[in-house]
Amino acid sequence: MRFSIIASLFALAASTAVAQYTNQSAPFELVLLSQNPTINGSKLIACHEGAGIEAACRGGSIATSGPGFSTFQFNTSIYSVPTNESAGVTGYLTYELRGFNFNESEPMVLSVDPVSNVALPIFSPSYFATEVAFDREGLMNIQGYVDDRTIPISTTMIYVAYYRWFVCSTYYSGYRYQALTWVLGEFPPENPSCVKVQVKRVFV
Ligand SMILES: *[C@@H]1O[C@H](CO)[C@@H](O)[C@H](O)[C@H]1NC(C)=O
Ligand SMILES: *[C@@H]1O[C@H](CO)[C@@H](O)[C@H](O)[C@H]1NC(C)=O
Ligand SMILES: *[C@@H]1O[C@H](CO)[C@@H](O)[C@H](O)[C@H]1NC(C)=O
Ligand SMILES: *[C@@H]1O[C@H](CO)[C@@H](O)[C@H](O)[C@H]1NC(C)=O
Ligand SMILES: *[C@@H]1O[C@H](CO)[C@@H](O)[C@H](O)[C@H]1NC(C)=O
Repeated sequence: MRFSIIASLFALAASTAVAQYTNQSAPFELVLLSQNPTINGSKLIACHEGAGIEAACRGGSIATSGPGFSTFQFNTSIYSVPTNESAGVTGYLTYELRGFNFNESEPMVLSVDPVSNVALPIFSPSYFATEVAFDREGLMNIQGYVDDRTIPISTTMIYVAYYRWFVCSTYYSGYRYQALTWVLGEFPPENPSCVKVQVKRVFV
């Protein structure tokens, strides 16, 4: 009984936390910056990975009848305050899936395959999200305060921004795309197709 009360309190806390990310930015495009001239300047476009699931593909790498890029939004909560002003406040990167008779705001979550260090950002109707931020230059980052590369593990009072974005050939539930990825940890991506990128927010 006691356990179930605690469990339901957690469930309540979790759902409240999700419901609070409702301060939504204006739509923006996500532009790739890279030393690779083919990739540099490309925009990200949502691409189908299954029912209601999208990855962020490199525009120009997939055929489309539309404009070749998607717009995204950034949702924060009233509790979102930057601990590091230059790195930016954290929140949800969202994509609005337009259905025949519905619109669904989907948060980005990193899909992690335990046998690879290359994680795939996907958008889906999920209660789970991976928080991102946009720094002073508009570059998308993921922040952390724990560094387990040291003994003892070190922590910082202020969040540190990481920019571990790559564009790689990806495989997810049967679909193969050239898509945005995030590399887990400090080592290079094990996927040899990966090209280093920065992801810049440009308001439309
Ligand atoms: C983002 O904010 C908008 C506006 O409040 C809201 O309708 C939408 O559900 C939010 N999206 C997510 C994934 O929380
Ligand atoms: C990438 O494109 C930007 C403009 O979109 C340009 O300023 C920059 O020099 C380019 N970088 C490379 C390596 O080509
Ligand atoms: C919502 O976000 C905007 C920036 O996108 C900010 O200026 C505003 O203060 C935020 N409002 C609340 C209630 O957090
Ligand atoms: C979805 O959003 C678009 C653009 O805002 C709007 O035109 C359309 O009516 C919406 N559809 C539904 C079912 O709400
Ligand atoms: C704030 O974030 C930037 C970018 O990650 C980092 O260079 C800087 O060290 C951070 N500031 C502090 C005080 O940690």
